[in-house]
Amino acid sequence: MAATFNVAGVSIPKLGIGTFELHDEVCIKAVSSGLQAGYRHVDTAERYENEYAVGEGVRASGLPRDEVFITSKVWHDHLAERDMMAAAEASLERLGISQFDLYLIHWPSRDVSAADAVRSLCKVQERGLTRLIGISNFPVALIEEAVAASTVPLAVNQVEYHPFLDQDKVLEAVRKHGMGLTAYCPLARGKVLDDPVITGIAEKLGSTPAAVTVAWLLGQDNVLAIPRSRSPERLVDNLNGERLTLSAEDRAAIDALRSPSGRLISPDFGPDWD
Ligand SMILES: NC(=O)c1ccc[n+]([C@@H]2O[C@H](COP(=O)([O-])OP(=O)(O)OC[C@H]3O[C@@H](n4cnc5c(N)ncnc54)[C@H](OP(=O)(O)O)[C@@H]3O)[C@@H](O)[C@H]2O)c1
Repeated sequence: MAATFNVAGVSIPKLGIGTFELHDEVCIKAVSSGLQAGYRHVDTAERYENEYAVGEGVRASGLPRDEVFITSKVWHDHLAERDMMAAAEASLERLGISQFDLYLIHWPSRDVSAADAVRSLCKVQERGLTRLIGISNFPVALIEEAVAASTVPLAVNQVEYHPFLDQDKVLEAVRKHGMGLTAYCPLARGKVLDDPVITGIAEKLGSTPAAVTVAWLLGQDNVLAIPRSRSPERLVDNLNGERLTLSAEDRAAIDALRSPSGRLISPDFGPDWD
């Protein structure tokens, strides 16, 4: 049984399949083979323009709908209530499902406050379109605003997190509110593969840098991760990280790689980071 993060009475598998930039047959194959290999959680977004392929991949896996945890996200120009409702309905139709397991605000907006956006999100849940709601790319001040405005527990904040980025402030804030931190770019888009500390630990353990990084992430309280790969073999490699336990000494060596300047994703429209 895969490790889960439990929130609001729902269990979220801690390891999911990222799907950014995966399309059509490549996406269908990655999702279906990943689910057959043991994943039970898939991450997509309206912005990725692959929700149809993600839905096809889930169906091709042969697993019943209720055994797969599906997350999607609403883009930051759809945060007003009517826009969000329409965006959620369109995403569900593309996925071919009647309810998300988790629906996230993809990025905070400069035009709609975090509080107003979360109030729209609560309405999406009240209508039964999603089991859980959450946020993504929210720094601490906006996490606080979102939590205060929400009528239900927020499940996660999905943010960039990997061995080269210090996210202690966000981790402290989400843990305080009983939320998870879903790590995106968990492999630092491949940078972990060349790091001498991580490759050294992998060689010592007879494992791989990707699996060691997944183990480092999932070994932290309230942390989930959604590595992406187009390759069924590399998806299995990442899944192996779930069964790997690192020594305190190896964990500390990876902890020491983190820095506040290790961020890879910071678009113009993004928030002021902590
Ligand atoms: N909320 C947000 O704003 C946001 C932003 C970015 C990402 N995300 C989500 O987070 C997911 C993960 O982030 P990401 O895709 O940006 O980066 P990532 O998972 O850190 O890295 C993906 C890269 O690593 C390679 N890779 C994966 N597994 C590997 C392995 N075992 N060995 C060697 N190389 C491997 C992949 O290449 P191959 O495909 O060739 O294996 C790909 O180039 C996304 O797919 C998306 O679902 C969310």
